[in-house]
Order: sequence, then structure tokens, then C-alpha cells
Amino acid sequence: MSIESMVDHSRAETLRVLSHVQDLRTPSVVYSRHALTTAAQGLSDAVSAVFGSRGAVAFSTKCNPRTEILEQLAAEGCSFIAAWPRDVQHLLRLGVPATSIFWSGPLKRATDISAMRRARIVPVVESPSQFASVLLGCAEPGDHDVIGIRLHFTERSRFGVTIEDLSPHLRSVKAHGISRVGFQVHGLAGPWPPPCAHWAERAAAANRGHELADKFGLEVAFVSLGGGLPEPSEPAREAYMEAALPYLAAAHQVMSPVPRVLVEPGRFLVQWSGTMVASVVDVRHRRDAVHVILDLSFTSLASPTSTELAPVLLADGDRGPDRDLLFVGPSDFHGDLLCRAAGPVPNAGDLVAFPRVGAYQEAFAAHRAEPQLRIVTI
Ligand SMILES: Cc1ncc(COP(=O)(O)O)c(C=O)c1O
Repeated sequence: MSIESMVDHSRAETLRVLSHVQDLRTPSVVYSRHALTTAAQGLSDAVSAVFGSRGAVAFSTKCNPRTEILEQLAAEGCSFIAAWPRDVQHLLRLGVPATSIFWSGPLKRATDISAMRRARIVPVVESPSQFASVLLGCAEPGDHDVIGIRLHFTERSRFGVTIEDLSPHLRSVKAHGISRVGFQVHGLAGPWPPPCAHWAERAAAANRGHELADKFGLEVAFVSLGGGLPEPSEPAREAYMEAALPYLAAAHQVMSPVPRVLVEPGRFLVQWSGTMVASVVDVRHRRDAVHVILDLSFTSLASPTSTELAPVLLADGDRGPDRDLLFVGPSDFHGDLLCRAAGPVPNAGDLVAFPRVGAYQEAFAAHRAEPQLRIVTI
């Protein structure tokens, strides 16, 4: 990857986004409402094309629980999958209806279970041991009660209940007086981007869950096909639609019957909406490379995003021949290493932007920005 040769779309989009920011100071994250809306609409187009009115988009809030993002996605008609009760409470305070919120976190404390039930939020059971506490918190169930169940169908997942273990749990759900269940089939596939066939596997797992639910006389209220969609290389509505379609179609082809279907992406929706902007605070010529020290760092160690970091140097004038550059955060420590890129050597004071970092990164960056990270929404 080279700064100069990086994808034109990223560079063009970065310059377009930053041209809307007055008084650009660093370190900052610039969120683009337009990019978010484009992603939500493109995905919604794909979901409707494949599943018609039975399909819906649910944003995985752990990917970015920033208020502006949740509000914007709610305005676009998205539902939400929240891992933490505080995210659920946040969504309720923003006016998102309980019917559009699912609670699927691995930690389910008794007090949270009661609070979620009072708020009529559907809990998704993520392990066999969670059934007892969720059912206990569901005394005198009513028609509104639905229990979601995450299915363990891929070796790469640590979560869920296997199909082989499912029957006794469905029996106890039924015995408890609950008549509706939902299935969540999120799981990682291995290499990135995941093969579409993995979505067919998800749908097959949901079918098997559905068959068993039928046996116990339980209605299947929803199937959530999970997240992990690879976002397109350009932030255009049609590009989002085209990126998602093969995955959804692969699932649809296998799914029988088709209940209410959710897709629950995180990064697919928000990745393009976030651009981080840093200042070069120092340039150190070292034996291995030229170290470009920035006033901002985020995580390349945890690598939670699907996109390779592609820095855009926001500087005019001749900067000399390309060199091997290492972009590092303010502590110049190996955990702060952002990326390696070939490009002209910047000067202290130049600005560097990192497009496509709207997913997962802000929370990490907040701890590694000096001065404090500034958030701008355009
Ligand atoms: C249950 C669940 N759903 C959806 C997602 C979103 O995944 P992605 O950001 O890959 O779309 C995650 C992310 O970890 C998850 O755990």
C-alpha cells in the first residue's frame, strides 16, 4: 500500500468529508451522517430485495454506541442488537421502541434480566447456562414474551447452544409458558471477507432450530442472521446493496420457512462514516523505517475492523521520494503502531487522515489521543 496509490475512493471521500469541517483541529474523529445514511439505505435495499417486508436491519451497538449514530440509524428505520444493558437503556432514552431492541450480551445479571423484562426487551440466551436465569426472570409470561436463542453452529464461535443440546431447552421454555422463540446465528467464518456459503450455513442452522421449535409447538418470531458483512470499497448506496446481496441471497436460498429475518451488522454500517485526523508531531529516521509520530492512535493490535488502514497525507507541495513509513501513536510504543505505508516523508505539523475507521475505533482512540479526542459530526 502506498499513500499515493491508495484507493481513490478513500482519498476522494476523505477530502470531501473534511471539506465540510470548519476549524479542523487534531486529534479528531469526523463522523459523516451522509455516509451512515447511505450505508443504512443500501443495506435496507438489499434486505428488501431478498426478504421483502419480512427483512429488517438491526445495528450491533457494540460496534459504535455514539448517540448521533444510534439516532441516525433509528431515523433510517434500523432496529438494534445491544450487548450491554446500558446500551439498551440509552436506546430507550433516545425513544427507540422496545420492539426494535434485542439484548444479546454474554453477561446477564438477574437485576438486568428483570429490568429488561419490565421494558419488554427480547433477551437472547447466549449459553446453555443462561436459560435458567432468563426463565427465572420471566415469571408469569405474557403474549409479548419471546426468548431469543443464539445457536452454536460454527467451531469458531464461543457462544450459543448447539442444535444437539437445544431440545431440552425448548422443552423448558414451553413448560414455562412461553410460546415464541427467535434464533440468532451470528458466527465468524475464518478468513476475511467471509465466503457467502457461510451465510447458507447460518440459514441451515436456523432451519434446524425452526424444525425443533415446531416439534415443541413454539412459534419462531424471528431469525437473526448475524453480522460480519464486508463493507464495499466505495460509500455509495448501490455499492452497499451489491456488497450485501450475495450473502443475503445465499441465506435466503436455504432458509425454509422464512420468518421475520434480521441482519445485524456493525462495521458494515459505520465503517465508512468515521474518519480520524491526526497531526504529525515528530518524524524520526530509524534503521527500520521513518517513524511518523502522531497525536492519535487507535487499535491495530486488536484489529477489529475489516479494512486495512490507509492513511491520507493532507499536505501540499513536494515531499520528496517515497520512503517506508511507520505511522505510530503518541507513545511511539509498539502497541501504538498503526500501519506501515510507503509514501513521501511528512513534516511535523502535517495532517494525516485515516478513512474508514468508524467501527470500534473511537473508544480505543479516546485513551490514546493527546490532547483529548475531538468528535465532529457533519
Ligand atoms: C452477536 C453479534 N452480532 C453482530 C456483530 C457485528 O459484527 P460486524 O461488526 O462484523 O458486522 C457482532 C460483533 O462482534 C456480534 O458479536
